[in-house]
Parts: sequence; structure tokens; C-alpha cells
Amino acid sequence: MRLIHLATLLLVTAPIVVAAQGVATLTVDTSKPVAKVSPELYGLMTEEINYSYDGGLYAELVNNRTFQTNRGPSLEHWTLIENGNARASISIDKTSGPSVAITHSLKFTVESADANSDAGFLNTGFWGMALHASTPYHGSFYAKADSPTIGAVTIRLVNDNTGAIAASTTVPTLSTAWQKYDFTLKTGALASSADNHLEFSVQHPGTVWLSLVSLFPPTYKNTPNGNRVDLMQKLAAMKPAFLRFPGGNYLEGDHINERYEWKKTIGPMVDRPTHPSPWHYHSSDGLGLLEFLKWCEDLHMQPLLAVYAGYSMRQEHVTPGPDLVPYIQDALDEIEYVTGSTSTKWGAVRAKDGHPEPFHLSYVEIGNEDWFDKSGSYDGRYAQFYKAIKQKYPDLQLIATTRVKGIRPDVIDDHFYRSAAQFFSDVHHYDSTDRNGPKIFVGEWATREGSPTTNFGAALGDAAWMTGMERNSDIVVMASYAPLFVNTNPGGMQWPGDLIGYDALNSYGSPSYYAQIMFNTHLGDQILESKLETSNTRLFDSVTFNSKTHHLILKFVNASSLPQQVHINLAGVTHVRGQATLTTLSAKTTLETNSISDPTRIVPVVTSIANAASTFTHTLPRYSIQILDLDLN
Ligand code: AHR
Repeated sequence: MRLIHLATLLLVTAPIVVAAQGVATLTVDTSKPVAKVSPELYGLMTEEINYSYDGGLYAELVNNRTFQTNRGPSLEHWTLIENGNARASISIDKTSGPSVAITHSLKFTVESADANSDAGFLNTGFWGMALHASTPYHGSFYAKADSPTIGAVTIRLVNDNTGAIAASTTVPTLSTAWQKYDFTLKTGALASSADNHLEFSVQHPGTVWLSLVSLFPPTYKNTPNGNRVDLMQKLAAMKPAFLRFPGGNYLEGDHINERYEWKKTIGPMVDRPTHPSPWHYHSSDGLGLLEFLKWCEDLHMQPLLAVYAGYSMRQEHVTPGPDLVPYIQDALDEIEYVTGSTSTKWGAVRAKDGHPEPFHLSYVEIGNEDWFDKSGSYDGRYAQFYKAIKQKYPDLQLIATTRVKGIRPDVIDDHFYRSAAQFFSDVHHYDSTDRNGPKIFVGEWATREGSPTTNFGAALGDAAWMTGMERNSDIVVMASYAPLFVNTNPGGMQWPGDLIGYDALNSYGSPSYYAQIMFNTHLGDQILESKLETSNTRLFDSVTFNSKTHHLILKFVNASSLPQQVHINLAGVTHVRGQATLTTLSAKTTLETNSISDPTRIVPVVTSIANAASTFTHTLPRYSIQILDLDLN
């Protein structure tokens, strides 16, 4: 669409010493829009990886609440308490659970206990439990007792280091049949910390069975079973247009019987069996299909639903034809759950689950990364899904996860995990893509430099790549960075190089995160004709124009270790109103980064420049991403 000339142009330079780097020239013709910018270019991709939901966005504080891990029923994260002379034990009872979905429980047997020697068990949370002062924590559990004589159950939040009780309550008696119990723990004055755990204790002998033990802090918009406030706020700041879910490899599972089965992730928690995930830890499925959709609703994102398409990661596939029919029906049911009115079967189930209003859905992705399927079955699987879905939902745009033969997909999902250098050399990737072919969705991409979250060098690679996607956003209609989240605690990460990091108490955005915000919140609706001439092979730009506000947005990425002077010529512009806004993200080195202990070391800085005019010169700092917003009214 537009050429960058790498030949050095020896133009007249202003008398500023900017080290040995030739002056670049950017020429823009503001009267010549060459294409439209996709209004849904930047969105989010999410899946259960790096403790993204359990131990991340999903605000549940209890870890292993149904005593189930990828390796089977387990007491992981639960510890016995025997205070004073108390004698007790905990074990897994595989024969008794609160529901058809949860068929086992923690069995707690107390041989001896009294007022001075209580017995119990505790949960250590996801690397601790974050507590704040004067805050209510709402909990629940399912339990039964062998006899009411075991007495009241005391529930406490306790500091790991001091033993100080942050909050306490009691459940007076337990029934001998499975029943749900709700409780609230309200903290008083305390310093915020993650060094806390949840305790249950009794003062009399007896036996108790427990399962689905839950505790929630206040959540985003106070939604029951909701999301962590700080992480939702970080996502809201990105103003994402869509959410691609539920994966990723998480959609596929390692094996067909470990795929994402959406029907097992809806309704009351006690009816959700939980499932193993390919990222080596168990998923509570507390953040299930309806919770994904509500997450979209909360952040005004459109859902981009990926449906399981008959391939799982250990080279297991479902043969196209009759074998695939039940999987296609599952996808049709899923789409009906999302979009159907309450008079449809699955729309009525959604209403029963608490959301009568249907969700708007435009895009459905069929599978994930099916180029890994060495059997070559995707051509047939995609075609079969495509025909069945289009027949019932002709307006849906159906995304293929790789190029397919025999049928033309509406959209193709491309993935790029690369180094900054690879992105620098491939910013013209989509310049010559066939405009009459399928649209492109860059559904996963990232510069993988830095860990657990990416560093400034990665942000430069990301920003360079984004200039290329913006310049081609008539064909690249959507893009989402991945992975989105990482729990930075030891063992929390399965995939280095993530966008947003957190522990139980705090969270932060990587430099890449701030680059994303800058690019998405400064984006016009038209791509203008422009030409960048430079000898700097690490200089990249994007030029868009907001036709409603008449603002010109110039984005520059100077990934060089030297400053870069740019002459800017704006053809068709007579004057620039007021001062231009300049937003800068920069660092001293490419390794400089943000972290839990230094969360805002690299953040965008907003200033202004006074010399913006139809022709002016601007100097980009070394290692910088800059956005100039010019008011052309
Ligand atoms: O983003 C991490 C993984 O990378 C995704 O699950 C998968 O789709 C890709 O291979």
C-alpha cells in the first residue's frame, strides 16, 4: 500500500545535533485517504494459561476448592490443623460429594478436640490470599456431618506470619445431608497483604465432609462469582473491541475428552465438574461460558467465540463426516446459548442461568491452530462446520485457523510469536495481501522478549508490528496480543513473555501493555497516503486520520539506539490548531521493564509540542514510541 524508501535522503537539516543518523522524511497527503481502519482492530485474546483465571482474573480466593487437580482428587493447597491436644485427619473421600458433577469431598475426622484444642484445616490460596482493611469477603461451602454433635464450625482469615485473626465467623450447626452454607468474613483495620489463609475449625469430635469451598473479595461491579477489580480496570484501559475466548490450546485440550466442553461450564458452580487443562493445572470452570460473555458485556467488547472443532493437541482428531456431527451440534447449541432468544432451547437455559438478553455475536472461530493437525483433516472439518453454521446463522463471519482447501473462509487467523528483530524485518507482511481474499485476524501475536512479562525491546517490536497492521487494517480487521496474563509467583507461568503480570495483591502492565493502550486509544478511521523515507532500518510509522474529529495521528517507533530527526510534510494542511499532543513511551535500554516491585517504571508520558505545522521537524528519542496527535480543524 505504501513504500518506505530506505535510501538515505540528504535533506536540509535543522541545526540540531542528533548523532550520526540521517534525517528521515515523512510526507502525508491529508486529502488522500487510501483505506478505512477497521473499527475493531484491537481486542483481547484469553485462555486459562499462566493462572489467568484461577489465581488471576477470576476473583476466587480458595485454591483447589473442589479437591481436584489434573492428577485426580487431591488435597493440594489444604493443610490439617491440630491445635493443642487435638487429634484429627483429612483425606479425600471418593464416595461422597455434593452433586452429580462433584462426586468426592474432603473428609475431616476429629478424634479429639475442645475449646482450648480445636482441630481444623486451612487453605493457602493462590500464593496467599489478598486482604484489605474493612472489607467483606463472601464465602460458601457444601458440607454434611455424621452427627450434629460436632458443633459449630468457626471460619477465620488468619495472617500467615503473625497468626493475627483478620476476620472470624461461625456456622452454628451442620446437617447430616449435603447442604450449602454461606458466610461473610469482614476485616477490620489491617495493612493490605497477601500473606493470609482461610481456616475452618471445630471444638468437638466427629466427621465432616466438605466440598466447593469458596471465598470472594469484592469484585468488579460487585458481580457475584466475578472478576478481580484491578485486572478488569487494566483491561478497561485498553478499550478492547473484542474478546477471543476460550482459547488457544485451552479450547482444544491435550486429548479430545479434555477439550473445552462449554455445557459443563454453565449453571450453578455445584453442577460444574471442572476439567484438566493443557497448561498442567486444573480448571475450576468458575469462569465459564456465561462469565466470559459477562466479561465482554462489562468491558463493551464483542465476543469472538472459538468453538471446539474436533482436534486436540496430542494429534487426536475427529474424522469429518458422521463422527463430527455431535461436535457440530455442540457448536450450534453454543451459538444458540450466546445469541438465541429465550424461546430457543439454549437461549432459555441462558435465561435460567441469569441472563435473558441474548449477546450479539459476529465472529465464530472454528478450532485453534489446526495447522498442527498432521492428519490434514481440517479442510474437511472446517467445511462441515462452515456449512452447518452458515445454514443456521448466515450472517456470522466464520474464522479458519489456517489456510483451507475447498472452501473460502470469511476470515483467517494468523499467529506470530517472534523476536523484535523478526517483527522489524516483517512490518510489510500484509502490504501485498490479496484484498479480494479472506480478511485477516491476527488472533495471537507478541514479541517474546522478557519474562515473565515483556520488556521495552519487546514493546518496540510490538509497536513496529502494529504500524504494519494499522497500515493494512482494511484487510487485517482484528488483532489480539497473547498471552494476556501471567501470575508472576514461582510456578505461576507456563509461557514466558506476557502482557500483564500480577500476584495475589498487585498487578502491573508491561511496556507492551502500554504500547497497546497507546496504539488503540490513538487511532483514526482512515489510512492516509503517506511515505516515510529513511536510512534507519529501525524506524517505523503509521498515519491515520480521524474523519469525525479531524485529528491526524502520526505514530513513530524509533527502535534505534540513536535519536531520529524526522521532517514532517503535511500536504493539504494549511495550519495545525494549538499545540500538538505528544505521547511518549521510552526506555534507557531495551531490557528495561516493569515488574511487581517496579510497576510503573515505563509508562506513557503526555506532553505537547508547539512547532507542529504543515511542515515541521520533530526529533524522536532513542528507543521510543511516540504518537503525535494534530488538530487539523
Ligand atoms: O498463547 C499461548 C499458546 O500459543 C496458545 O494457547 C496457542 O494457541 C498458541 O500456540
